[in-house]
Amino acid sequence: MLSQHTIDIIKSTVPVLKEHGRTITTRFYQLMFTNHPELLNIFNHANQKQGRQQTALANSVYAAAANIENLEAILPVVKQIAHKHRSLGIKPEHYPIVGKNLLAAIKDVLGDAATDEIINAWAEAYGVIADVFINLEEELYREAEQLPGGWRDFRNFVVDRKVKESDVITSFYLKPQDGGLIPPFQPGQYISVKLDIPGETYTHIRQYSLSDSPGKDYYRISVKREDAVDGKPAGIVSTYLHDHIKEGDVLPISAPAGDFVLDTSKETPVVLLSGGVGLTPMISMLNTLVERQPQRRVHFIHAARNSRVHAMKEHVAALADKHEALTFHAAYSEPTEEDRAERRFDKEGFIDLPWLQSILPDNNADFYFCGPVPFMKNVYQALKDWGVPEERIHFEFFGPKGSLSE
Ligand SMILES: Cc1cc2nc3c(=O)[nH]c(=O)nc-3n(C[C@H](O)[C@H](O)[C@H](O)COP(=O)(O)OP(=O)(O)OC[C@H]3O[C@@H](n4cnc5c(N)ncnc54)[C@H](O)[C@@H]3O)c2cc1C
Ligand code: HEM
Repeated sequence: MLSQHTIDIIKSTVPVLKEHGRTITTRFYQLMFTNHPELLNIFNHANQKQGRQQTALANSVYAAAANIENLEAILPVVKQIAHKHRSLGIKPEHYPIVGKNLLAAIKDVLGDAATDEIINAWAEAYGVIADVFINLEEELYREAEQLPGGWRDFRNFVVDRKVKESDVITSFYLKPQDGGLIPPFQPGQYISVKLDIPGETYTHIRQYSLSDSPGKDYYRISVKREDAVDGKPAGIVSTYLHDHIKEGDVLPISAPAGDFVLDTSKETPVVLLSGGVGLTPMISMLNTLVERQPQRRVHFIHAARNSRVHAMKEHVAALADKHEALTFHAAYSEPTEEDRAERRFDKEGFIDLPWLQSILPDNNADFYFCGPVPFMKNVYQALKDWGVPEERIHFEFFGPKGSLSE
């Protein structure tokens, strides 16, 4: 238990640390990677370079500190992070490393203002926060391991099939190399893939949503290749998977993780909205719904540039033909001449509220969405404007969580 005095110090210094948040966490990562370069095998270098992870970690430490008397209040956030940590293989012994370097960074940036009393209070508070994460993660590791066919860290899977889905998206069907069982998962969950690329100093870990329904003898992921564009370098893992990983190759993957999941105990209508490669968790949910709850009303709405990059279109269209409870709509922002001639889409441009209102009977549904950040902001705003309550809005970021309302 923290003393009231320690709690008072933490609460009075949170605003100061927030103000210097970005400087402190930038310094923190510099220090940590100098002292522990082996951690570069776990952290995403591209997120580091773009500052996305700096903001995510700093903000959550301060949010936790601000709620230090009532950590229950931030449990949903902790849970989501713990899933990500579990899929990355984060261990209890990593926590003191983060703590030590975070405190050193606070000292560096605040200078004399960081008295011993303040540093000691933060060390204590960090210990309490770290314990919450460590305990929750241990629970998640145990759960993953105890499922039939389950495992704890990474397990080798063989690429059984590689299937092109569009000009930019390719699916990989993965089966365990040991020939054993694989556990079921909840539609919407992802796995982490760990790649050891020849010539690269460090391993690279990336998350990919499972894109088929559970209960098969394989896991399927569907990966968009991130080519170099506008001076930004090509994505490391996605292009390596596309260009070099062939059928028969082996990939170490984590057990399925994540709390963005379809609630199959409900009977409410479901609206699945996706932009680009954000369709992968939605396809898993869709396939599960038609297999297990064929009477449940489902609206599948997809936004893409045009039909050339619209993956799995035939699959969804064929399901919609067969299942009365399912409707399917597509919005193209840059349709081709053939798209226009053959009326391959329902709306030109981005998804907006008037269009949603014209294709959906009402707002009484659970809404699940995923896609590029601008797409997500748009959809989120439209749903809020339509009065959809927060508890029926569910979304996944394909990167560190950000804010949708800023
Ligand atoms: C929960 C979750 C689920 C996901 N599911 C899927 C999925 O189903 N399918 C899928 O395709 N992806 C998915 N992703 C995204 C995936 O994990 C990877 O982020 C994606 O494949 C890109 O990885 P990469 O290694 O190819 O690119 P990275 O090398 O990580 O680069 C990412 C981006 O950063 C840019 N970049 C790199 N360095 C710099 C720099 N110095 N300056 C500016 N820009 C830079 C690159 O140009 C690229 O656009 C998911 C992510 C999460 C978190
Ligand atoms: C109390 C301490 C910690 C907090 C509050 C914290 C917080 C976070 C947050 C908010 C994210 C982003 C999650 C998301 O939005 O998906 C994250 C991701 C991550 N965390 Fe932690 N973390 C902590 C400890 C650690 C430790 C000890 C390690 C290992 C050394 C670690 C490694 C990572 C990695 C590798 C990622 C993913 C990075 C990326 O994809 O860019 N974290 N953490």
